[in-house]
Amino acid sequence: MSMSGPKWWQSGVIYQVYPRSFQDTNGDGIGDLPGIEWRLDYLAGLGVDALWISPIFPSPMVDFGYDVADYTGVHPMFGTLADFDRLLAAAHDRELKILLDFVPNHSSDQHPWFRESRSSRTNPKRDWYIWRDAVTGANGERLPPNNWISDFGGPAWEWDEKTSQYYYHAMLREQPDLNWRNPDLRRAMLDAMRFWFDRGVDGFRVDILWHMIKAADFRDNPLNPDWKPGMADMHKVLQLHSTDQPEVFEIAAEMRALADSYGDRVLVGEIYLPVERLMAYYGKQGEGVHLPFNFQLIDAPWDAAGLHRMVGDYEAALPETGWPNWVLGNHDRPRIASRVGEPQARIAAMLLLTMRGTPTIYYGDELGLADVSIPPDKVQDPRELREPGLGFGRDPVRTPMPWDASPHAGFSTSEPWLPLNPDWQLRNVAVESGEPGSMLALYRDLLTLRRARPALSLGDVHLLAAHGDMLAYERTRGTERIVIGLNLSDRPQSCDLPPGRLLFTSGGDYVPGRLAPDQGVVLESVA
Ligand code: GLC
Repeated sequence: MSMSGPKWWQSGVIYQVYPRSFQDTNGDGIGDLPGIEWRLDYLAGLGVDALWISPIFPSPMVDFGYDVADYTGVHPMFGTLADFDRLLAAAHDRELKILLDFVPNHSSDQHPWFRESRSSRTNPKRDWYIWRDAVTGANGERLPPNNWISDFGGPAWEWDEKTSQYYYHAMLREQPDLNWRNPDLRRAMLDAMRFWFDRGVDGFRVDILWHMIKAADFRDNPLNPDWKPGMADMHKVLQLHSTDQPEVFEIAAEMRALADSYGDRVLVGEIYLPVERLMAYYGKQGEGVHLPFNFQLIDAPWDAAGLHRMVGDYEAALPETGWPNWVLGNHDRPRIASRVGEPQARIAAMLLLTMRGTPTIYYGDELGLADVSIPPDKVQDPRELREPGLGFGRDPVRTPMPWDASPHAGFSTSEPWLPLNPDWQLRNVAVESGEPGSMLALYRDLLTLRRARPALSLGDVHLLAAHGDMLAYERTRGTERIVIGLNLSDRPQSCDLPPGRLLFTSGGDYVPGRLAPDQGVVLESVA
């Protein structure tokens, strides 16, 4: 921890708002900025500290805002810059921070920069994107420069008739990759960050940070020997040369220096890499991003021994100055309640909110929302549309927040852009607020406890022996000593937790020596 004491983003809790689905105020069935402002009291009352809002910038919405057409504007669907300023001020009045979603790897193909870039080979912005000549195949046919595959399937190169070159897109063809090796582009993008920092935003979540620099020689990626039909097309190759290149750390450091020049701001990096690679994004001397997202819980097999090992390995791998963080879900991955079932989603919430490190909560998880099945004629997600039926569609986790039992769940006055959860009349904020045993009550109570007990937010963590289906650990800070015991199964579990006073239970009484099925407890140690 730094000499100046813990930072807000170390003790605090981040909450991800997917703006299309949070609260609509203008009746178009899509959420907006005034809607988020309207719900700030809910968020403050829940007990979170910061909101990360998925992209709100002007965009053709081919990838729902992750295709940005102007880095310093607000999409009219979400409101205006003035709406944003009002939201930010209202959040700050409630001591809530706001993080925006910065998408630096690629823009929309409708961004004026790309229109210029593709207009001619000599345009000054040509080199702001990644253009390459075709390769001639054995039979004289035109081939892309290499074998790289888009994360949405198919070749990552798109032929441009007018200028007779290919451009590179790690994502959709409508999302051309920006060339971060070009100093002018780099300056323009850092200026865009500055624009929002100047307005007072508290930080950014940085989209696909590990993709931003590609190997200078554009070598073929090695084939993945483990690829089988049914796996996503992108996994046919290993992204050895198209991602995670050493020069990316210079960019992270530039962004970090910029953030630090504004004081207490934070950068959270989206990075899907194995733990040992992930650690590099903290920077050798802590000059990288503050929080490289740790997504391990999203893919983890749900068993005590595995989680015990994962936490231990992650803690051991952290650099000395690195602060940990944990995530259960986001707008790209299946919801926790669907992955482990609702009773264990309560245990997962306890793990998220009592483990050492900054937690990020995905909107709706606090209600126990599950993935919503989307009828084929309602599918919106480009990933599902391009590779249907493989189970990678993201619409099921992006459905509207159910606020109450009024028409359209209080989300909108008209038909929402995606269907509501089928149980919305019972599973909504209003109903769960009044139920002591609800998932919402569990989240609120845990967040309250976490605020009251600095050992839970800032304390050290010591794993206690894992046996059977029990995961137990201790959090300590000064003389404060708190023990957490989690039963990861639906069977009773004997346990030998140190004696303590019960501070919290996920449900049911605590009988020392035993945890009930799906029970988690937090004890204040009296030993
Ligand atoms: C990130 C976003 C995802 C988006 C992709 C391309 O992974 O989380 O939603 O589709 O980047 O920008």
